[in-house]
Amino acid sequence: MSAISALTPADVTSALRPHRTASRRIGFVPTMGALHDGHRALFDRARTECDVVVASIFVNPMQFENPDDLARYPATLSADLEICASAGVDLVYRPAASTMYPVGFDSRVDVGRIGRVLEGRSRAGHYDGVATVVAKLLNVVRPDRAYFGQKDYQQILVVARMVLDLEIGVDIITVPTVRETDGLALSSRNTRLDANARARAVAISRAIAVTATRFAHGTTGARELSNEAIETIEAAGLDVDYVTITDPATLEPRETVRAGDVILVAATIDGVRLIDNAILGA
Ligand code: PAJ
Repeated sequence: MSAISALTPADVTSALRPHRTASRRIGFVPTMGALHDGHRALFDRARTECDVVVASIFVNPMQFENPDDLARYPATLSADLEICASAGVDLVYRPAASTMYPVGFDSRVDVGRIGRVLEGRSRAGHYDGVATVVAKLLNVVRPDRAYFGQKDYQQILVVARMVLDLEIGVDIITVPTVRETDGLALSSRNTRLDANARARAVAISRAIAVTATRFAHGTTGARELSNEAIETIEAAGLDVDYVTITDPATLEPRETVRAGDVILVAATIDGVRLIDNAILGA
């Protein structure tokens, strides 16, 4: 695995050239490091479907609308590289910020409506940052398939929209959310929760699970279902940003829920913003 020094885009191109010449299938997993079993599920899936697995580790300043959030983002490079090695990642691309955003850098990918609702509304500019960096990474790695976690449901829609609109020519693969045994979705941000907040954070996944059960038993009113979820999450002392049940492709809110719709939640606990989602009736 080539990983020890930060590679340049030209290094990545030359490392992948023999694989491309041999028509080997290249899988790509973009990350911001602080790797956990959620990331590992992406590596594992890429490993089973592709001949060559490339990961990137880059904490992308452009997608952090809150400088404090960026400053507090965990950095665990040596552990990350061990996880990549043990997951069979062939190449780790860790561009320097000055490589990604050199002096004079002045472009951005603005994904329209799907990038402006929900997370895009609460975190203005966030998805421009995500789309821009993912476009740059895809242009360097030029993978056949790129793997994203369902945990960041809206991010997948934004990336898929961009790939289609800009004709990037990569298959976007969705990998199911990996959870702790109590249901909390794994996230690099969970390390910021103290024991008390960690215990209360489970209210998010629990509320989603209750909603799924209530829908399975015949409740289809979106307002009734989401109000109940909000109550559960607030009762645990979290601040709800949104709970919404939407069309899975457009993220338009539903009045009457159908199988395949998605419930999306964002809530803050002790200053840590957590998101989660699930497909209902799946
Ligand atoms: P990051 O938060 O590091 O996540 C990298 C990938 O891991 C994303 O596709 C995310 O959805 C997935 N992931 C995170 N937690 C997961 C979990 N519990 N189960 C399954 N997958 C999970 O998302 C980003 O980085 C950035 O926005 C990025 C796409 C790298 C662009 O900078």
